[in-house]
Amino acid sequence: MVSDPHSFSKPEDAVVKHLDLDILVDFESHVIGGIASWDIDVKNGNKIIFDTRNLKIESIKLDDGKDANFSFGVENPYLGKSLIVELRPNTKKVIIQYATSPDAAALQWLSADQTAGKELPFLFTQGEAILTRSWIPCQDSPGIRFTYSAKVTVPKSMLALMSAVNPQAKNDKGVYSFIMDKAIPAYLMALCVGDNAFQAVGPRTGVYSEPAMLSKSAWELGELEKFVTAAEELYGPYRWGRYDVLILPPSFPFGGMENPKLTFATPTIIAGDRSLTSLVAHELAHSWSGNLVTNATWNDFWMNEGFTMYFERRLTEKVYGKDFAQMEASLGYQDWMEELKKIGMTSPDTRLYINLEKRDPDDGMSDVAYEKGYAFLRYLEEKTNRDSFDTFLKNYFNHFAFKTITTKDFVSYLKDNYLVKFPQAKIDIDEWIYKPGVPNVSKAPVSILFVKLDEWLNSYKSNSKIVTELPKTLSYQEWIYIIRNLPEKLSESQFNSLNKQYGWASSGNTEIQAAWLEKSINAGFGKALLTDIDKFLVKVGRRKFLEPLYTGMLNHGMEKEANEIYKKARRGYHFVSVQTIDALLKYKTS
Ligand code: BES
Ligand code: ZN
Repeated sequence: MVSDPHSFSKPEDAVVKHLDLDILVDFESHVIGGIASWDIDVKNGNKIIFDTRNLKIESIKLDDGKDANFSFGVENPYLGKSLIVELRPNTKKVIIQYATSPDAAALQWLSADQTAGKELPFLFTQGEAILTRSWIPCQDSPGIRFTYSAKVTVPKSMLALMSAVNPQAKNDKGVYSFIMDKAIPAYLMALCVGDNAFQAVGPRTGVYSEPAMLSKSAWELGELEKFVTAAEELYGPYRWGRYDVLILPPSFPFGGMENPKLTFATPTIIAGDRSLTSLVAHELAHSWSGNLVTNATWNDFWMNEGFTMYFERRLTEKVYGKDFAQMEASLGYQDWMEELKKIGMTSPDTRLYINLEKRDPDDGMSDVAYEKGYAFLRYLEEKTNRDSFDTFLKNYFNHFAFKTITTKDFVSYLKDNYLVKFPQAKIDIDEWIYKPGVPNVSKAPVSILFVKLDEWLNSYKSNSKIVTELPKTLSYQEWIYIIRNLPEKLSESQFNSLNKQYGWASSGNTEIQAAWLEKSINAGFGKALLTDIDKFLVKVGRRKFLEPLYTGMLNHGMEKEANEIYKKARRGYHFVSVQTIDALLKYKTS
């Protein structure tokens, strides 16, 4: 077992095996309180160490029913503090009575006006990377897996959902029971409480959302079952039983989060035309890469996200065809290049295996893990052949199922089980994994559809009138490609005519809308779109959109506007977005 710099626990001495959670969710005080009862396995010594962050520990008992002595370690701003519990001989259970703090980092408590229904408040959690410790005392390391059961008491009008076997309707007691009988790491613990309803879309797939969003969401994700089947055809059986998606209110800080059995997703993917559902393909793919085979530490984050990008694009290629997947790969490659410009080609964070020791893992997680990781796997495929590589990946998921894996484990497994069969391929693993920047052998993915658009973009650059000739039926990826690759210095008349002609600023497709708002801000026309920018930033809390928009405003003479908008919008953002934008705008509380 490798040591994890982001957990205080010492699993080599004492490790958790099963959690029995009994909690009450109190919307009045914004507190979750109750009992976390842990089955443990003691290997060495007479104590067990948990991670906590801002938790109030009320009492701890052992399985003999008597109180245990406990103490805390020194507090760290992002790691929280260790909870050290003294054990007695043969202790098998540690029963912790605790309560969260109202500003627990994982939790977002929404008021009724921040929901679609506007009548009831709402709560959701976000565990990855190291936030679960702010709502459950746990061994919060991706290398430590446990099963769980839970009893969750909520207001009677609400439904509770977890990363477990879920109810499909409310009951009149407001008490819900959950079982997750497959061992998962703490970052995949998840809870949502709100006015949620369920609609099936296939025999083992369905969608949860607030009633106001349900039929739209279920239509948008109508192809879910097809995705699960296609994923199984690629890389082996889906091992988690049901696969459902929960569409959250717009403050959800990520596009999606792969909570087992129940992906949490932003409503910004509900575009009305199924164009943004590759995000769900991504989260579904994590049911293999990430949830089945899990990165041992956050330094190995690329093992979760790079593999998932590869899986996602193979999946969308299977369901939507080659053109679709090629466009996404090409846009992803651009994202990687943009990230490199931001963090610098030689930065150690441009390596696949990164060193996050003494840092908040959130600071080092970038598009590099996703897109360099993707590029590496694609390179492996191309240097060998697709069929063999698919067999290798299928075996890899089987071999490491419900285990954790370090980058080193992967490299030796790859060498011993695959590369030995292809000596002529001459893969320079070190260059891909341990060196910064872009490997010499890396090639930008080519999309034929984008090459066609290049012709248009080039002629637009020399004669802006040709704008009228673009067919309105382009895919969202093509629009993104166009917006991104318009001349950096748009003239005022170019900006005005594009803005008017295509209505991107108020597009129902949030990817297009965000891309155009960003482009306009960076071309110096942000003030002309202030109303749209304001509305967007107050409504949407997805960090991927917030960061470039606020950054653009800072860099293009809209610092005052950025601060004014943020002042209003901040209370509607989850902690992870607040943390990022606070730092960006040097925002001071109080
Ligand atoms: N697991 C990630 C989200 C995440 C990463 C949360 C790091 C916390 C820390 C999820 O699978 C993801 O990658 N989401 C992306 C969408 C995806 C299509 C690239 C997102 O949220 O934008
Ligand atoms: Zn992911």
